[in-house]
Amino acid sequence: MDQPAFTLPPLPSAPSRILLFVAMHSEAEPIARALGLVGGRGTVAGAEIELLTPGTCAITRVDKLGPVHAASALTRAIAARRPDLVLNMGTAGGFESQGLGIADLVVARDAMFHDARVELPGFDALVRAHTRLSPNDAQLAAIAARVGGRIGLASSGSSLDATADELALFARARTLAKDMELASLAVVCSEERVPLAALKGVTDLVDHHEPTHEVFLRNLKKTSDRIAAAAGGFIELVAGS
Ligand code: ADE
Repeated sequence: MDQPAFTLPPLPSAPSRILLFVAMHSEAEPIARALGLVGGRGTVAGAEIELLTPGTCAITRVDKLGPVHAASALTRAIAARRPDLVLNMGTAGGFESQGLGIADLVVARDAMFHDARVELPGFDALVRAHTRLSPNDAQLAAIAARVGGRIGLASSGSSLDATADELALFARARTLAKDMELASLAVVCSEERVPLAALKGVTDLVDHHEPTHEVFLRNLKKTSDRIAAAAGGFIELVAGS
């Protein structure tokens, strides 16, 4: 697989304002509880943390999942808050072929879109948006050791399930996690030059035969709790303390 075309600023040594993006309310609740956030705000490792969820759609009354809502919410929040670090925590599909199991954690090294294809020079790299996130290799290793997670590629798209072509791409790229937000957050952070790091927890196995949505719902609470239990340690390491 290609090297990332885009890079982000390094992790700041002592961030004072952190935006923590979590897509779904059911993922955010245990994280907020574990971090002691009140009204979505609190202090962790000497930094002010603000929880950012894209909210509920007024028409469909469900959480605003997906890359478009993630980018929209983060763009507005960066303009309003000027954070010096953005974090993303949330659930993802994992890959049995890469040795992952339910509730395992992945610390993202890079992110890209797996469902974006434009066969024109330059545009293909633009839409795939393959981005190296902010933690360097040593930081990734320290974070992964602290939370007990694997380090690797997280790939984003607009769908919970995966096509046969996408499964082949995931295998070629040795993808560890498949989500619906991280690459879009990376695009926004790249444009705004804000550092970004991400922690993903596996709710379902993309390369397993069971229907994704059933496995996802079955494991949503367990995996959200696992992410929440790791959240404090993750933030302490990315915030440099
Ligand atoms: N979030 C949790 N599981 C996922 C999957 N299989 N695809 C995309 N996002 C997810």
